[in-house]
Amino acid sequence: MQLVNVEEVKNWLNDAGEFIKTSLNNTLEIKEKSNRTDLVTNIDEETQQLLINKIQEVYPNDKILGEETGYNTIDSMSGRVWIIDPIDGTMNFVMEQENFCIMLGIFEDGIGKLGFIYDVMAGELYWGGKELGVFRNDEKLQQPESSKLNEGLLGFNAYMFGENIHGSKEVANASMGIRVSGCAGLEMIALLKGNHIGYISNLAPWDYAPGMALIEVFGFHATTLTGGALSFDEREYFVAAQPETHKEIVEMFKKTGNF
Ligand code: IPD
Ligand code: CA
Ligand code: CA
Repeated sequence: MQLVNVEEVKNWLNDAGEFIKTSLNNTLEIKEKSNRTDLVTNIDEETQQLLINKIQEVYPNDKILGEETGYNTIDSMSGRVWIIDPIDGTMNFVMEQENFCIMLGIFEDGIGKLGFIYDVMAGELYWGGKELGVFRNDEKLQQPESSKLNEGLLGFNAYMFGENIHGSKEVANASMGIRVSGCAGLEMIALLKGNHIGYISNLAPWDYAPGMALIEVFGFHATTLTGGALSFDEREYFVAAQPETHKEIVEMFKKTGNF
């Protein structure tokens, strides 16, 4: 299999980021998907297409799974699969014009090889993989120190907390507190930086795969709430945390979650 040129992928993400920044000067075309808070813009769609064109030009035999129309299902994770979320945090993009990311994960036979999370407005690209380590732009990051659930902050999905899905409130209350960003990419970045010790949400493959390829380098576990393998197929409840914290959270969900 042809090796992926990481520098070239970083250039593509930079181009995609420039495209998004330029688009902020123009009027957005905003559409609702499943409900009034599930938005997509023409820029989400055009950014996905920009990245797909580049991938297909250089790696024509690879598979692509992307959030927007035409690419959001895949037969299996066999072979090399590029997983794209062109704008993660579309609501933030529309309402705040910041706090959104471009995300790209590269998987081989279901194993995360490379991950890229680009916080466009902060100008910070988090990238790397098992053989490279994890970087923020050119700076190599150190693995965060481990801590227990009662010692750190959790990124949390607002709906899951508010509706106490599977006993979410008990898990949240056992931590030092929860934070809600509206952007899975920023939550993954918070894990990489050691700002948060875990992240609990309801995510699709393009929301978790790119970050998973990065947080696994630092030993984080990413699973369903009961510790099962993620499907890479559909939206599902998701927990990522350092091993000890992950165990604590999964045990708590199993006890109180009524599965
Ligand atoms: C959403 C964000 C959000 C998460 C949602 C995702 P999108 O992604 O990552 O934080 O809670 O589940 O769908 O739709 O803005 O790419
Ligand atoms: Ca997303
Ligand atoms: Ca998206």
